[in-house]
Amino acid sequence: MSKAQTKYLKDYKKPAYAIKTVDLTFELFEEETIVTNSMQITKADTNEKDLKLDAVSLELLEVSLNGLKLQESRYIIEEENLTIINVPTEFEIKIKNKIYPQNNTELEGLYKSGDIFCTQNEPEGFRSITPYLDRPDIMSVFTTTVVADKKKYPILLSNGNKIKCHESFDERHGVTWHDPHPKPSYLFALVAGDLGSISDEFVTMSGNKIVLNIYCDLGNENKCHHAMRSLKEAMKWDEKKYGREYDLEIYNIVAVDSFNMGAMENKGLNIFNSAYVLADMDTATDANFMGIESVIAHEYFHNWTGNRITCRDWFQLTLKEGLTVFRDQCFSADMNSAEVQRIEDVKALRERQFVEDASPTRHPIQPESYISMNNFYTATVYEKGAEVIRMVHTFLGEKKYAKATDLYFETFDGQAVTTDDFLWAMSKGGDINLEAFKTWYHQSGTPRLKVEESFANGTYKLSLTQIIPDTLEDRKQKPYYYPLKMGLLDEEGKEVLVKTLIVSKEHETFVFENFETKPVLSINRDFSAPIIIEQKKSEYDFLMQYDTNSFTQYEATQNFALQTINKLISSDEIDKAFVQAYGYLLDLDVDLSYKALLLELPSVSAIMQLQEKIDFDVIYTAQDKLLKIIAQKFKNKLLDIYKKNHFPASMSLDAEYIAKRAIKNRVLKILFALKSDEVAQLAQKQYEESLTMTDRIVALDVLENLHVNYAEVALQDFYNKYKDETLVMNKYFAILASSSRYDVLERVEKLQRDKVYDEKVPNLVRSLVGSFARNHKYFHAKDGSGYKFLADKIIAIDKINPQMASGLCGAFKVCNKMNNHNQNLMKKELSRVISTQGLSKNSFEIIDKILK
Ligand code: ARG
Ligand code: ZN
Repeated sequence: MSKAQTKYLKDYKKPAYAIKTVDLTFELFEEETIVTNSMQITKADTNEKDLKLDAVSLELLEVSLNGLKLQESRYIIEEENLTIINVPTEFEIKIKNKIYPQNNTELEGLYKSGDIFCTQNEPEGFRSITPYLDRPDIMSVFTTTVVADKKKYPILLSNGNKIKCHESFDERHGVTWHDPHPKPSYLFALVAGDLGSISDEFVTMSGNKIVLNIYCDLGNENKCHHAMRSLKEAMKWDEKKYGREYDLEIYNIVAVDSFNMGAMENKGLNIFNSAYVLADMDTATDANFMGIESVIAHEYFHNWTGNRITCRDWFQLTLKEGLTVFRDQCFSADMNSAEVQRIEDVKALRERQFVEDASPTRHPIQPESYISMNNFYTATVYEKGAEVIRMVHTFLGEKKYAKATDLYFETFDGQAVTTDDFLWAMSKGGDINLEAFKTWYHQSGTPRLKVEESFANGTYKLSLTQIIPDTLEDRKQKPYYYPLKMGLLDEEGKEVLVKTLIVSKEHETFVFENFETKPVLSINRDFSAPIIIEQKKSEYDFLMQYDTNSFTQYEATQNFALQTINKLISSDEIDKAFVQAYGYLLDLDVDLSYKALLLELPSVSAIMQLQEKIDFDVIYTAQDKLLKIIAQKFKNKLLDIYKKNHFPASMSLDAEYIAKRAIKNRVLKILFALKSDEVAQLAQKQYEESLTMTDRIVALDVLENLHVNYAEVALQDFYNKYKDETLVMNKYFAILASSSRYDVLERVEKLQRDKVYDEKVPNLVRSLVGSFARNHKYFHAKDGSGYKFLADKIIAIDKINPQMASGLCGAFKVCNKMNNHNQNLMKKELSRVISTQGLSKNSFEIIDKILK
């Protein structure tokens, strides 16, 4: 990496120009695309002389100002800019340039996914399409004409409403789209292809009829219905909960196979990774269906939180992402089981965000600087950002929160704003002072809270001490301000007090009077604050039985299990109380999908976060041991639960059947620990008789790790059946790359040459290489083979797609927590990668931080 330029929030300056309208014409050809871009521009700052546009690898054909072609002396082309010298106060610039979408493997800007032309412009892709003031606070009205071969590209789409079709005599045709809502360039989109589609309509609360289309590869139309259902539910929900209505005549969604992220909220034309659109019972798991529902909703919700009100600059990303994730989490909670949703969200936060927040790449939800903005679409900005909004919601309560969000929409509609603007609306509308709350936006690391209890003469005292991590540069950070939900239970498990404490000081004590016996504390209910509770506690089994809050009941189970595993690590001794309490859970009469979560033992990632120095061998051994004890002790009960929920098999997506599949498959994964023929046969039978992908994939995974011969047959069968379905093949690659079998790396290397695999398709790379990087057992192999493999892959993929490469670099984040031996091996590989000629700034930024 030659000149890694860091950008700083403190350097933000208001734009010196405004672009009122943009007229774009795209002439799509197989070898090249010609872009004509005509902009009406005004000077906002009359001291400015030159107009410096963002432009990368510009191949300029022509530029004119107010209709007059400019001589070469009037402009300068640099690596990342086109500067027009000496411009008047109001003028029109017309630029014609050439790009090569078919060679674009970075999947940023205009590119081809298979035979489909599509775009991804957030955050800074538009500048590789045409010169522009490519920053989100430049909002403009776009009119777009797309011209292409009629046969190959019958469908031509862009943002807004379709205003004109152009027929011509040769084989080409064109369509013009107009988007009346001013928007930043990152929301611009274009699609051209021979696509299948399904259509529907939605009538908004004020009676507007909206046409809804979902486009996909021909032949996949029947896999789009769940996405369509989800879209309509999301539209309804946003009207009911936030009073927000859709604002164009048409809403288009397009599914493409090659996409760097999940999906993109381009105005009126969402472009999706096909993994978040396509599903049917034969090819998608229950989790896939839920994922589609939530991402479809997420992108739809962006129409108000992101598009109509957008970010002033990219440091404000959490303004739209944190808020929109919070909105989609609430939507999913309303559509499904709220208690399960909350636990799943917290689980995901801990597995990804907590790990990030403890690593050298940690950053506040509003970062202060970046080299590559693409590296900041992180679990911190998104998921921790959503937790921060959730805390605001908890402070305000439902009613005031509604008032405050109304104020936000009224005040800032059509503007590009900051997180401070959002907090202003929250405090004004919610009638609350949020000054002290702002630390959440500017500090990094997961806050801890030490909890100490005392009881004497009927008085219960709760002493809380905040443990605040320093910044990466060892600067001290301030105490946090947050709501802490708690409950106190009496000795019979009856709730005697429920309260939301406000924690604001480094140290404080709360006093509660008039108890006959010491009450039992249930703390951080609903996970009201994204913190780590530190507490010496012996009452987990009591809470497992009696806690009335489903989240803290789950939490008690997890904590007790973690404590038990920790003891197993140091003393080889099993805590019988835990085994007994676990038996109690097996008999619990609760919602089965919730029960499936309760019965899950802590993940490797959860155990690893408790270790000073990570030792994966030790973790796996202890985890296996506990699982085995549980499986042996409760074998019959587990088998009973299995059978009771396995029959009758059903393809229904009703909550009841999703829950039955969840509990049954949880139990199968526990029984797996027995490593017996009986369990192998159970899994084999489940594979063969499976009606759903949910059942099939769990059975396949169990077989892969349990029984070489059965696995071989099943894997072959699976491959033959699904080799033409790339979304299903992702699952196949993921199972093999996550396997515990000794020859994983060898098999992964071989699979790279499989004809289904394609290094240019992010989903496939993530499921094969990415899954291997998360396979701690082999990625962290003592001989360094895992590290070397991944480093080689990063170097190779960085040349194809820097975003994908820097994503893979993340596996090295745990470096400084590993033992010296592994740490040295990791550093050696990272040094090799970072000294690679021409390494992207994306990969450079991540590795540089890890090596510092
Ligand atoms: N705004 C999109 C979403 O969260 C994510 C797009 C990010 N794309 C990227 N290349 N970094 O819905
Ligand atoms: Zn988003």
